[in-house]
Amino acid sequence: MTSAGLPLADAAADAFTRHSIGAARRQLAREFRQQGIETPELDARIIVGHVLGLDHTALTTQSSRVLTAEEGGVIAELSARRLAREPVARILGRKEFWGLPLKINAETLLPRPDTETVVEAALAALHCDNRKSRELRIVDLGTGSGALLLALLSELPGAHGIGTDVSFAALRCARDNAAALGLSARASFAACDYGAALKGPADVLVSNPPYVARGDIAGLQAEVRDFDPRRALDGGPDGLDGYRAIASDVRRLLARDGVLVLELGQGQLGAVTSIFAATGLEPVAAQHDLSGITRAVVMRAPHAAATFPVRKKALGLWAKND
Ligand SMILES: C[S@@+](CC[C@H](N)C(=O)[O-])C[C@H]1O[C@@H](n2cnc3c(N)ncnc32)[C@H](O)[C@@H]1O
Repeated sequence: MTSAGLPLADAAADAFTRHSIGAARRQLAREFRQQGIETPELDARIIVGHVLGLDHTALTTQSSRVLTAEEGGVIAELSARRLAREPVARILGRKEFWGLPLKINAETLLPRPDTETVVEAALAALHCDNRKSRELRIVDLGTGSGALLLALLSELPGAHGIGTDVSFAALRCARDNAAALGLSARASFAACDYGAALKGPADVLVSNPPYVARGDIAGLQAEVRDFDPRRALDGGPDGLDGYRAIASDVRRLLARDGVLVLELGQGQLGAVTSIFAATGLEPVAAQHDLSGITRAVVMRAPHAAATFPVRKKALGLWAKND
């Protein structure tokens, strides 16, 4: 219902059915801009294109076509969701990660471009070891939509892996994504607390655990705070609970020459490497995101670190934000 008490579709008929596609896009963009949405034109284009099944070019060539009442109703419904701060990717139910189209649902984090630094760091570590073409065992703890595991499997044809999560809905989503990408034969999924149900050893262990300090969640952008699942964000009182849980199992899970690659919250490098120091793993490289924040750290056992050729150079990258 609208504030005028009209069913949404009726209001939308008023709002949009006499509009051309181009006029509807302009009106949506104007409303989004007035409400402080960061990318109003882009969001309006994606929503209208999604409803009409038209790509960017077709939206332009058909911009003078007049919308039907039904099309106007659906556009109004989806734009109301965006105005309530639901991210466009959630409205569409899909998000691209590492060039892979991934389905998402209410129990999966929206995969972020920042998380691609974990994939980059893992691939760089394997490249240095000349192991990219070998048979590798990958573990992804807190897999969500399967983003990290599936990106790595897509790059490493000899690898197979397992993703864990405490959310069954997330695991179903990850399994469906693996199937859609033709990776099912090399991807398994298990419901458990991080690595608790796994035996190991893994050659590559990756994780993007929840790392927001509980007290900071209320101050997050509405798109994140109100729509990403709480258990994908909440890292406990200091944001580090997930790292502690992974550290308690890591020596059992990781092969002697294995690499551990973790995503980090801003400023967490020191605290996270201290947690893992007790396990005997040493940081050997780090990766910045596009904002220059140290977003991923690579760790391994000291005997393996000694043979890691980019160690000193990579360590030099850390100073910027930590
Ligand atoms: C920050 S999200 C990362 C999701 C995905 N790996 C990505 O990068 O897009 C953290 C994930 O950890 C899962 N999680 C939270 N607590 C967990 C636990 N104790 N054991 C396993 N997974 C957990 C959440 O359900 C969520 O899917």
